[in-house]
Amino acid sequence: MLVEFKCGNCSQIMSADPAQKGHDIECPGCGAELTIPLQGTIQSGNIIEDHLVQDMIGQGAMGQVFLASHLLMNRQVAIKTISPKVRQDDDSSVQQFIQELQMGAQLSHPSIVTVYNAGYVDGVYYISMQFVDGFDMNERVDQSGPLAENEALAVVSKVADAMSYAWNDFNMIHRDIKPENIRVSTRGDVMIMDFGLAKVRQDDDSKEEGLVIGTPDFMSPEQAQGQMDIDFRADIYGLGVVLIYLLTGKRPFIADNPFDVVAMHINRPMPKLKMLNPDVKVSEATQAMISKMVAKDRDERYISWEEVGETVDRIIAGPQKPRKKTPAKKKTRTKVSAAPRRRRRRRRSSNMGIIFFMVLVLAVILGAVFASRM
Ligand SMILES: Nc1ncnc2c1ncn2[C@@H]1O[C@H](COP(=O)(O)OP(=O)(O)OP(=O)(O)O)[C@@H](O)[C@H]1O
Ligand SMILES: [Mg+2]
Repeated sequence: MLVEFKCGNCSQIMSADPAQKGHDIECPGCGAELTIPLQGTIQSGNIIEDHLVQDMIGQGAMGQVFLASHLLMNRQVAIKTISPKVRQDDDSSVQQFIQELQMGAQLSHPSIVTVYNAGYVDGVYYISMQFVDGFDMNERVDQSGPLAENEALAVVSKVADAMSYAWNDFNMIHRDIKPENIRVSTRGDVMIMDFGLAKVRQDDDSKEEGLVIGTPDFMSPEQAQGQMDIDFRADIYGLGVVLIYLLTGKRPFIADNPFDVVAMHINRPMPKLKMLNPDVKVSEATQAMISKMVAKDRDERYISWEEVGETVDRIIAGPQKPRKKTPAKKKTRTKVSAAPRRRRRRRRSSNMGIIFFMVLVLAVILGAVFASRM
């Protein structure tokens, strides 16, 4: 189906191939330079503000994610479009959308995907960001099953470090920590995506329905209850549930509809890892850490991201082996320092022998001289 649009200068009606959306053309009526409008959707081949859209690489609840190349910078980026159903397109919505993303765009951390730009063009809200070639943690578990304990903890350690930076330096929380938002690059870097995006969606949807929106599978009880004063501890809960998923391959609460899942996060005790997957082999230390991360009452969770990070790193380092007894070491040290002393003493006694011999020779010579004179 062709895209129909009107020249703003001479009102000539024109049609174009949908793949040409965003490209510039000359109006056949008046010769003015026009851009073929995007009209709410984009696809491969379209141009969206200096980005040539390539393949679609993913689809989420908010919209689609495309690989694109920035025509001037000659670099690959990911473009996330936000469906018009999710956002209204009046001026204040556009402003609010950009303001909220400006917060996320300030973050600069090796484990947080960099946001380059955000905007609204011809019915399309979009965000351009660092493209992370690799796989997300959901794809990883789907393809190769649950992760080994230390592998899962290494992911948690990186995420905790990035979250600590965002909370301590910017007072920012993620609100949507889930396996799809944690990606591992082909170089092995762990990257968090969609920082601050949940807020964009929540603000808009809650305006319409007064409901908390998001994937309920990893949502903290306080978030699920729609509390307004949530803090970093909601993300600690989310990361705890992600860790359960990485180790068992299972989401802890499954129900026919999202409302029941949310209710289970609020009311049901978190199932033990063995109940979710009888084959799981995880240390007691990790199990204790998970229990603390997913405590229903946020006051019973870790009191900072640093505490989470330190706990993970301690578990990864393993139990400290007892030190070897020190006397053996002392003996060695004594031996090392004794040898030169003995050598010095031997050298001194051999010196004494030479002196004694020379005195003797001198005495014999003097004796001979004295005898010859007599
Ligand atoms: N910057 C990026 N680089 C590479 N892949 C990405 C990037 N951002 C998102 N993706 C991938 O695109 C897919 C869809 O992501 P998207 O964020 O739209 O949905 P989601 O995270 O599954 O759900 P939600 O809409 O709730 O955030 C995911 O597999 C994600 O890993
Ligand atoms: Mg996402």
